[in-house]
Amino acid sequence: MTTEKSELRTIGQIVADDYRAAAIFKQAGIDFCCGGNKSIELACSEKNLDAEKLTIELKELELSSPGQHQDFNNWELGFLADYIMNTHHKYVLKTLPELVFYTKKIADAHGENHPELLEVASLFSEINSELRQHLKQEEEVLFPAIKEVMKSNASETKATIVSEISRMSEEHEFAGGAMDKINEITNGYALPEDACNTYRVAFKLLEEFEDDLHTHVHLENNILFRMADQMFSADEQQTLIDQFAVVESEADPEFNAENSIAKIDFLASIYMQ
Ligand SMILES: [Fe+2]
Ligand SMILES: [Fe+2]
Repeated sequence: MTTEKSELRTIGQIVADDYRAAAIFKQAGIDFCCGGNKSIELACSEKNLDAEKLTIELKELELSSPGQHQDFNNWELGFLADYIMNTHHKYVLKTLPELVFYTKKIADAHGENHPELLEVASLFSEINSELRQHLKQEEEVLFPAIKEVMKSNASETKATIVSEISRMSEEHEFAGGAMDKINEITNGYALPEDACNTYRVAFKLLEEFEDDLHTHVHLENNILFRMADQMFSADEQQTLIDQFAVVESEADPEFNAENSIAKIDFLASIYMQ
């Protein structure tokens, strides 16, 4: 990771090359998973941070001993999909019911003095239902399609991958945004003086859940999905980019996320054959 390379690569690529960089971006308050598709300069200017200082920190990291960290970039895609399911999906499915319980419990007990807890419980309830559906879709549709296309290269499967990546990326934005909001309204999980043990457990678990979600979404957006996209030929990619531009530029009074996905599915089914 040279200084020059750090300036050219996106934040997501920098973290994909060396996951230790995630800690530097996290400390600076820069989103490396859903918001990873931008340069250091742009991310720093948005947050009013010193890009040069951050680049030097990354350079120092590069010069330090790498230790034991996984080089996910070089993993076979099916293996990476299995790893994500066996670590992050299992963790999410185990933790969702616990956090639904704890966030509701502290909202009931402390909501009068700390009204933000009512919003935390409500946001987490939405995250719970959205993520359950999202994980199911990845495990039953997208991940099997990625494994399948590596064996058969079938056009129909490629179309599924393109439309599913688009849909899953949008859903990442929702879950990441809702956790950002929880972080913001709790002042970074700061505990008030009257916090009981349940309050402490709930905030610790929320913080851990947010960290895990960042890693999980990073592995999907910046590595798995990016590398799955790279399986398409330049012509196929260009066709899709052109068609996506048509979708976006269409003046549609009924435009919304749902019919935009339906259009992408439709276009992919035509143009990817
Ligand atoms: Fe996932
Ligand atoms: Fe996902």
